[in-house]
Parts: sequence; C-alpha cells; structure tokens
Amino acid sequence: MTSRVRVGIAGTGSQLPDRVLQNRDFEKWIDTSDEWIVQRTGIRERRWVAEGEKTSDMCLSAARRALDASGVKPEELDLVIVGTLTPDFLLPACACLVQDRLGAKNAGAFDVSAACTGFLTALHTAEAFIASGRAKRVLAIGAESLSRFLDIKDRSSCIIFGDGAGAAVLMPWEDCRQGEILRTKLGADGSGYSFIHMKGGGSVTPPTQESVARGDHFIRLQGRETFRFAVNKMAEMIELMVQGQDPADVSLIVPHQVNQRIFEAAMERLGWGMEKLFINIDKYGNTSAASVPIALDEAVRAGRLSKEKLAVLVAFGAGLTWGGTLLRW
Ligand code: UT7
Repeated sequence: MTSRVRVGIAGTGSQLPDRVLQNRDFEKWIDTSDEWIVQRTGIRERRWVAEGEKTSDMCLSAARRALDASGVKPEELDLVIVGTLTPDFLLPACACLVQDRLGAKNAGAFDVSAACTGFLTALHTAEAFIASGRAKRVLAIGAESLSRFLDIKDRSSCIIFGDGAGAAVLMPWEDCRQGEILRTKLGADGSGYSFIHMKGGGSVTPPTQESVARGDHFIRLQGRETFRFAVNKMAEMIELMVQGQDPADVSLIVPHQVNQRIFEAAMERLGWGMEKLFINIDKYGNTSAASVPIALDEAVRAGRLSKEKLAVLVAFGAGLTWGGTLLRW
C-alpha cells in the first residue's frame, strides 16, 4: 500500500455579485422589517446576481483568484470540482463550463450536490484524490445563485439567501506548506430531505406550466425544524474536529453562515466564546455551498488564520448533510 500524501490548501479566492439587497428592500414585497431580520438572523444585506450573471461566472472569478494566490496555472489542474445546488444547467455540470472557460485543458470536471455542505464535500473529494496520489492540483469551488430559486412572496425563506462563490486550490502539502487538511468528516440523514426542499425540476416533477404555477421550482424551508439540527451539528462537528487537540491551538472556526442565533446557541453548548468564529452573515446572508469558501477566503486575506495554528471548517444543510474539516494553517 502506498503511503498517504499530506494535502494542503495553497490558495483561496471568492466572488460576490455587485447587486446589494438590504433588508428594507424586502419590505416592498413582504410583511417584514429590518429589525425582525437582524434580530432573528443577523443578516443586514445580501448579494444577488444581476440579470444574465451566472453561477459559472462567479466560479470563474473565484477560481482565478484562488489560482493566482496559489501560483498554479489552469493547465496544471487535474480536477475541477464544483459544489452547488444552483448550477447554470441541470446538464452538463457547472464544473465543465468552468473547466473550459478557465482553460484547464488537462482537468476532469464534475459537480457535487450536497447543498450547504457542497464546498466541504468538494474539498474532501479533492483531498482524497491528492492523498491517494491520483491527482496533484485540484480546484474545489462552492457557488450558488440561490436568488434564482426564491419565492419573493415567501417571507420565511427569501430574506435568508444570497449568491456568491468561493474557491480553493489544493496540492500536496510538501509543495505549498500551508493549510494542511488534518481531519475530515461528512455525514447525512436523508430522512430529513423535506426540511429544505425544491420539489420541481427533477425527474419526479419535471417542469410543466402547472408545476411552475404551483411554485414547485422554489426553495422551501422549514426553518424551525432545521434550526435545532443546525445547532446540534455545528456543535457536534466542532467537537469532533478538535477532539484530542488543545482548544487554545484553535485560532479560527469558519462556519456555514446560517444564522447568528444558531452560532450563539452552538458556541454556548460547547462552552466556547464567540471570538473564534469568523462571521460575515451580516453582509452576505446564507449563500449555501458558497458560504464556507467565501468566509475562508476573507479570513485568509484578513490574516485571521495564524500560521501553525488550527482552524475548523463546519457546514450543515439540506439533505440533511453536514461536515467538518480540521486544518493546520
Ligand atoms: O443553510 C441551510 C440550513 N438552514 C437552516 O438551518 C435555517 C435555520 N433556521 C433559521 O435560521 C430560522 O428558523 C429562520 C430565520 C428561518 C426563521 O426564524 P425563526 O425565529 O425560527 O422564525 P419562525 O419560523 O419560528 O417564525 C416566527 C414568526 C412566525 O410568525 P407567527 O407564526 O409566530 O405569527 C413567522 O410567520 O416570525 C414570522 N416570520 C417573519 N416575520 C417577519 C417568518 N419570517 C419572517 C420575516 N419577517 N421575514
């Protein structure tokens, strides 16, 4: 048996649409208020794609920044993996469009579908390919255009979600000497599939005039049911990732940006303060698969990841799915 290759994150990048929607913009469409949204979620504004702006466009910009940061050329990539629930098309994969536009002519390309855990699923897949010696340079992306699937009359879901993309370039740790992935975990419980659900557009309910009129193509969320799940999984994943480590060595936790109250409840359960959490939900809302890589990129660029210290990535969402990553930066 060949020995496992140590894997590192060599560079990150992100991209947000220019179009900003503030909480008060929603007051035109639904019975809500800036005060309710801030108090119940922590969100102040979010970015939505402009007409004609695509998930693959944001992937491309985020990817170019991650490649620049890592010093890797597109043609050196072995794989492009995109975690998304809002690809440009159902067919082909968004990753193929990115691969082509990037000029990653030596790379395979595929999407992974794990909703808010999509980036961690892409990241862990990339890590496994490199660790086993089957790839040397892999681009992992999380990207969403969720605003395309929101019912702006449904106040319990439309205020939460935002659009964006984040990317990371992975390579053998020996080649980059940073961001070593020490531990990974993915989990799922499909019995909770209906908690966050899009009924239409798949093979059970292909789009018809009737399905569109019923709004089957919109994302529906059972907020209260997922709230408890999110608190449990966030605390559980952090605990699992830091098991056997000195908590003082953990410099940063980058969670899926879901809800300020979920963050507070999870950290209280762990008996940890809020200071180690990287939070940008106030600016971008919940961008599903894009939220962890956008936050990771902002944290890296702000110098929040201390050299040689540990960092935890944690995500959870529709599926239900969840995951955690332990890194030594
Ligand atoms: O990323 C994937 C994972 N996502 C999650 O885990 C989401 C987790 N859930 C949440 O973040 C929260 O449950 C929400 C932010 C979605 C909702 O907050 P909540 O505090 O759980 O509200 P609720 O659904 O319990 O609703 C409380 C009240 C209801 O009114 P009544 O029935 O008490 O009269 C809602 O109709 O708040 C009402 N409400 C609103 N009011 C003003 C719901 N949405 C709004 C709104 N503005 N936008």
